[in-house]
Amino acid sequence: MKTKAPFQITGFAIAVIFLLNVLPSCEYEFIEIDVPVIEDTVKFSVEILPIFNTNNNCTGCHRAGATSPDFTEQAAYNSIVPLLVNLADPESSKIYQFPLSSSPSHGFKKYTPAQAALILAWIKQGAPNN
Ligand code: HEC
Repeated sequence: MKTKAPFQITGFAIAVIFLLNVLPSCEYEFIEIDVPVIEDTVKFSVEILPIFNTNNNCTGCHRAGATSPDFTEQAAYNSIVPLLVNLADPESSKIYQFPLSSSPSHGFKKYTPAQAALILAWIKQGAPNN
């Protein structure tokens, strides 16, 4: 029995090292960017809307007659609130999470860290139409 112990310990150590290497790769491919925290009041009309329609960033696809939801100036707020926000759990809001996720339709269309921070802060502030 005594001669078997070192082998068992080695086996255990190998298992631990194996798990330590494998476990981190099981993480979700959720948010990989560092999102800065914003404390100031975020204005939908001034800071959020331009994320969608500047250079047709999102409205290139998301507009009436093309892909729903419609994020053009007249429709954006009502398309987003309340359907795409979760005030109880802002990080899980679809409008925040969807473009950051690995959805095939948005693989090339992500928020920049600054844009993601604005959207998250705005939702945390109650997603007002300000
Ligand atoms: C190249 C076209 C294209 C662009 C550009 C695009 N999207 Fe989309 N988006 C789609 C398509 C197609 C769907 C629906 C299919 C899907 O679920 O992937 C969609 C779905 C969504 C949804 C889910 C809506 C729902 O009701 O479930 C959200 C939120 C969204 N897009 C946000 C954005 C934002 C924000 C931007 C800009 C940063 C953007 N999209 C840019 C094509 C696009």
